[in-house]
Amino acid sequence: MLSKRFRFIFLVVAVTAFPLFLGLSQSFSAVGGKAAGPKETCKTSDCHDRMGTDKYVHGPVATSDCVFCHKPTRKHSFAKIENTGKLCAECHERLDTQKYVHLPVKEGKCYTCHDSHQAPNKFMLRAAGAELCFKCHSRSIMKGKFAHGPAAVGSCTTCHAVHQAEFPKLLRNTASAICYDCHADKAEAFKNKKFSHAPLQKSCMECHDPHSGDFKNNFKADGAQDLCLTCHKDKQKDISTAMVKHKGLDTEKKCLACHDPHVSNYIKQLTMQPAELCMTCHDKEYVSSKGRIADMKSLLEKNTVAHGPIKQKDCSGCHNTHGSNNFRMLRENFPAKFYAGYDPENYKLCYMCHEKTLASDEKTTKLTAFRNGDQNLHFVHVNKTPKGRTCRACHDAHATNNPRHIRDAVPFNAWQLPVGFEKTADGGTCLPGCHKLYTYNRKSAAKNL
Ligand code: HEC
Ligand code: HEC
Ligand code: HEC
Ligand code: HEC
Ligand code: HEC
Ligand code: HEC
Ligand code: HEC
Ligand code: HEC
Ligand code: HEC
Ligand code: HEC
Ligand code: HEC
Ligand code: HEC
Ligand code: HEC
Repeated sequence: MLSKRFRFIFLVVAVTAFPLFLGLSQSFSAVGGKAAGPKETCKTSDCHDRMGTDKYVHGPVATSDCVFCHKPTRKHSFAKIENTGKLCAECHERLDTQKYVHLPVKEGKCYTCHDSHQAPNKFMLRAAGAELCFKCHSRSIMKGKFAHGPAAVGSCTTCHAVHQAEFPKLLRNTASAICYDCHADKAEAFKNKKFSHAPLQKSCMECHDPHSGDFKNNFKADGAQDLCLTCHKDKQKDISTAMVKHKGLDTEKKCLACHDPHVSNYIKQLTMQPAELCMTCHDKEYVSSKGRIADMKSLLEKNTVAHGPIKQKDCSGCHNTHGSNNFRMLRENFPAKFYAGYDPENYKLCYMCHEKTLASDEKTTKLTAFRNGDQNLHFVHVNKTPKGRTCRACHDAHATNNPRHIRDAVPFNAWQLPVGFEKTADGGTCLPGCHKLYTYNRKSAAKNL
């Protein structure tokens, strides 16, 4: 190797020693000139002797057409090549014609990636695979604990075009289509579903990082819950402030126990028809510090007269699945006990759908069918303080085997207090654990002596 200084001296000597060289500019223009052309002069055992020795050598370098690119001056220095883009385009296709052009290409700096002469890497690249990209881009995109298959193996160019593209971020296709190229099973699975989660319609990258992430599936937060809550901030607030929390949110699958993050045939991204979904867990009794939670699946199978919203399979009509501030995660107030002082506020749950005045007037001929003549029996039972009977004393909110969802029995502390209801055409009879047999008749008031 010649030192720089020596090389300079050598060049000066060379220039004066070879008169031929002074006439170079003319003979150079005859590209492919014979014997005494530049081919011998540029690459000699002393000068540029490594040219053409690497694994990949550029066509014109292999044929020693140095002067096609270099315009030697009289002092044997080369004019600086300002824009290689233009130079390269003399023989290659232009690479700045599409909508998005990679900045170094746009600036004509082909040589930042390609060695103009030769390199150990294919296409005379200055580095192979992702290493080339990391000469300019931060490695941080691959720093996540979980790396996406193709990026992990340095195959950046399966997704990115390196010179130019018709799609933003130099992608070879639209952001989501590029994913489907390999994840064809997902393209198939996501097709023809009734609902698709809003962020999915935008792009897969709303959730997945295409390169790497600290959480499984290349997320920036745990996909089962934290990821969801980065966008669903209101839900985060609701869930954390709820006084009655749903343990159904805390199974291993968290949000994904009920929701599909991609597509669904059911409303609200649910994985199943909502009521059936509840039964995937509520098909058994739970016993906890808060008491027993009934096996709702068998309760509904055994009790065939189902309440309106149960028939419509609308558990959410009454329960807030994500937790609430009311007993049993109910959407509105409903007393937990057999007795409660009368206050319509207590029964807000039922009054979401039923008449608020049900138990407010002592006499009525229209508020309710539970009357003896015009005596409102809902008023009689419910509208008392402190020992008003709550709706649960007679009705079950889900289903029973009696008309009007009247219970067979109601828990009264440790006792299953029987209700003993029989419906008749114009009224009914009751023989509960509370009093002797009473009859009511809407048409002509029964006399219960
Ligand atoms: C296809 C065009 C092209 C051809 C052909 C070519 N060069 Fe170059 N050469 C360049 C460009 C562009 C640069 C400056 C950018 C760079 O470093 O790649 C350069 C830089 C150089 C340099 C200075 C930087 C370095 O790499 O040391 C030398 C010396 C050189 N070329 C010699 C030659 C010789 C000798 C030949 C013929 C065997 C040759 N070149 C053929 C394009 C070419
Ligand atoms: C004088 C014409 C000429 C110029 C100018 C030229 N090239 Fe080339 N280039 C060739 C030839 C010829 C080949 C060999 C083609 C082949 O093998 O199919 C080639 C091959 C290549 C290849 C490898 C392609 C392959 O398929 O293996 C790359 C990369 C390349 N050139 C980049 C450049 C860059 C960058 C510039 C500008 C600095 C440039 N070329 C300027 C003629 C030229
Ligand atoms: C950011 C790095 C980078 C820059 C800048 C760059 N290239 Fe490339 N080039 C590549 C890579 C990587 C390949 C390998 C092929 C591939 O993966 O698409 C390539 C391949 C090529 C090829 C051969 C394959 C093909 O696509 O025909 C040519 C010719 C080429 N480049 C020319 C150029 C020219 C001319 C410029 C400047 C206008 C340029 N490149 C700028 C990285 C670059
Ligand atoms: C010579 C330096 C250099 C190399 C090597 C390089 N890039 Fe770039 N790249 C840039 C610059 C500069 C930008 C523009 C940065 C910006 O706008 O913030 C850029 C932008 C990008 C962008 C964003 C484009 C956009 O529209 O926002 C992508 C994607 C990209 N590069 C991918 C790659 C890939 C993949 C490789 C390796 C094959 C690579 N780059 C190699 C310099 C480089
Ligand atoms: C599976 C496809 C895929 C692979 C493989 C891939 N990328 Fe990307 N890359 C993308 C997508 C998609 C985006 C756009 C992300 C977005 O818009 O949020 C992107 C964006 C980028 C950006 C621009 C980042 C920004 O913030 O603007 C750079 C730089 C980049 N990728 C470099 C690389 C490098 C380097 C590799 C190889 C280690 C690589 N990519 C591999 C799909 C891919
Ligand atoms: C070039 C093919 C290819 C492309 C394009 C591609 N993937 Fe992948 N993807 C893979 C491979 C390979 C795996 C690993 C599969 C395995 O380990 O079973 C994978 C795995 C995944 C995984 C599972 C988690 C993991 O990293 O193992 C997710 C999520 C994923 N890809 C999302 C995407 C998204 C989003 C896109 C679009 C930006 C995309 N993929 C584009 C090939 C690809
Ligand atoms: C709202 C966030 C979100 C969006 C947007 C999203 N995903 Fe996912 N993705 C997830 C979650 C969460 C999982 C984990 C699912 C699980 O564990 O059951 C996942 C898992 C995956 C997996 C790997 C596990 C599997 O189910 O095979 C692939 C592949 C995948 N997604 C592809 C995609 C593609 C392709 C897109 C864009 C069309 C996309 N995702 C958009 C959240 C999202
Ligand atoms: C990138 C932001 C983002 C992430 C992450 C995200 N979502 Fe969403 N989600 C939205 C947007 C936007 C909507 C539509 C607007 C709305 O209803 O709030 C939506 C809607 C929903 C809906 C209602 C759908 C409907 O049909 O009304 C559910 C349920 C949902 N997301 C659940 C989840 C779950 C579970 C996760 C975690 C796996 C999650 N989301 C992650 C942004 C996100
Ligand atoms: C036990 C099942 C279940 C779990 C677990 C669950 N959800 Fe839901 N989610 C539902 C049901 C049922 C609905 C629809 C009706 C409702 O609001 O109760 C819903 C509705 C939603 C909606 C739509 C807006 C709304 O309130 O109607 C969003 C957003 C949502 N859930 C996000 C989440 C997030 C985030 C998680 C995890 C923290 C999660 N869900 C966990 C069952 C569940
Ligand atoms: C992933 C399992 C799972 C799903 C799905 C599920 N739950 Fe639960 N649910 C539980 C668990 C566990 C408990 C707590 C039992 C205990 O306290 O030990 C619970 C408790 C309840 C309670 C009593 C809460 C209390 O503490 O007072 C109600 C009410 C309830 N669930 C309603 C529903 C409804 C309605 C659905 C459907 C929208 C549903 N659940 C879906 C697991 C689930
Ligand atoms: C009309 C309102 C309403 C509807 C609709 C409703 N529930 Fe309830 N649910 C209640 C009330 C009120 C309680 C409290 C009952 C009690 O303590 O006697 C309750 C209690 C529960 C409990 C706790 C059981 C226990 O032993 O305390 C579960 C589990 C439950 N419901 C699940 C469901 C499921 C699943 C659905 C849908 C199939 C559903 N609920 C529909 C009002 C409703
Ligand atoms: C989400 C709305 C909704 C809520 C909340 C609700 N119900 Fe109902 N209820 C209905 C519907 C719908 C019917 C059926 C009406 C019909 O068939 O004409 C019904 C019917 C009834 C019936 C029987 C009427 C008949 O004609 O057989 C009784 C009794 C009843 N509800 C009691 C209650 C009680 C007690 C509560 C509070 C725990 C309550 N409901 C809460 C919607 C609701
Ligand atoms: C002492 C028992 C008892 C109590 C307590 C009770 N109900 Fe009833 N309720 C009945 C009987 C019996 C009927 C059936 C009337 C008939 O059709 O003959 C009935 C009927 C109903 C109906 C059907 C429509 C109507 O009024 O005829 C609704 C709705 C209703 N009750 C809601 C409630 C609500 C809400 C509460 C609590 C605020 C409540 N009930 C408390 C015994 C009771």
